[in-house]
Amino acid sequence: MTQNRKDRQVVWVSGASSGLGLAAAKAFHRAGYTVVSGARSFTGERTGEGEEGFRICLDVSSDESVKGFAEEAVSLFGEPDILICCAGVLVLGPCETYSMQEISRVTDTDYYGQVRMIQAALPFMRRRRKGRILCFSSINGLLGIPCQGAYTAAKHAVEGFCESLAQEVRPFGVEIMLIEPGDHRSGSERYRAHSTGAEREEDYRRIFENSTRTIAHDETNGSDPDRLGDKLVRIMRRKRLPLRKCIASPSQHLAVFLHRVLPGRVFSKIIAGYYHAG
Ligand SMILES: NC(=O)c1ccc[n+]([C@@H]2O[C@H](COP(=O)([O-])OP(=O)(O)OC[C@H]3O[C@@H](n4cnc5c(N)ncnc54)[C@H](OP(=O)(O)O)[C@@H]3O)[C@@H](O)[C@H]2O)c1
Repeated sequence: MTQNRKDRQVVWVSGASSGLGLAAAKAFHRAGYTVVSGARSFTGERTGEGEEGFRICLDVSSDESVKGFAEEAVSLFGEPDILICCAGVLVLGPCETYSMQEISRVTDTDYYGQVRMIQAALPFMRRRRKGRILCFSSINGLLGIPCQGAYTAAKHAVEGFCESLAQEVRPFGVEIMLIEPGDHRSGSERYRAHSTGAEREEDYRRIFENSTRTIAHDETNGSDPDRLGDKLVRIMRRKRLPLRKCIASPSQHLAVFLHRVLPGRVFSKIIAGYYHAG
């Protein structure tokens, strides 16, 4: 049975032009939700409803852009029932070689970008005493790996922020969920920048080359983003959301478990061995 637009739940998805955000937007659209998709590359070339729903240009690193997105989305489609914060960037490089600008770019998108989106959607949900916010963390929100220091720090910040947030907004009927994906074939190599200093430091050359090769290999052989999108729809239909959901391969679940139970020095040695070997 087809629902009227006004009967459908409204879902905002940031970072919906590629990878996991696009897969999530398509899955919710297929499932009959009114999806409002945001990304910087949505520059207004299409006005109708596509496979990822309706597109509105959005830069989560800009206060004005997020405000403009929220105002336009609400005026066109009504208040959001669900927010999915997926926009993210990655800058690969040894921690010592990051410029502060590179760290800021990752933080501003991956952490502050989620905060901006949450603060834009939450007032509507709080007023209606109903809403769900799904924030993209990562396995890297639970543990660190070499050459992803800036990203790992931003995802750990998202984890901490959302845990506090969940405790605050539960009395208002708003549920928060952290999604912690392992490697998925998002297919957007162009977003995986390297820090400008990464290849300059001879001491780090082997570590950097081998780590980035391993990261690329794991992602190329990762899970299907569309399966993740469908899984998110199924999770959203549950009566209650878990605070955290890790969607990863058995070996990545094992890494998370070992991170919890092993002494930090031992775990670091195992992980470094895996990535440094290439
Ligand atoms: N792929 C994986 O294996 C994996 C694993 C764990 C977690 N994750 C998380 O999943 C999310 C998506 O990752 P992905 O691999 O699918 O990445 P992706 O394919 O590189 O997609 C990133 C998306 O974010 C958008 N974006 C980047 N900066 C933005 C900004 N300032 N404002 C608005 N949109 C912005 C990009 O669109 P525009 O360039 O058009 O703005 C694009 O749509 C990220 O949060 C990532 O950390 C991914």
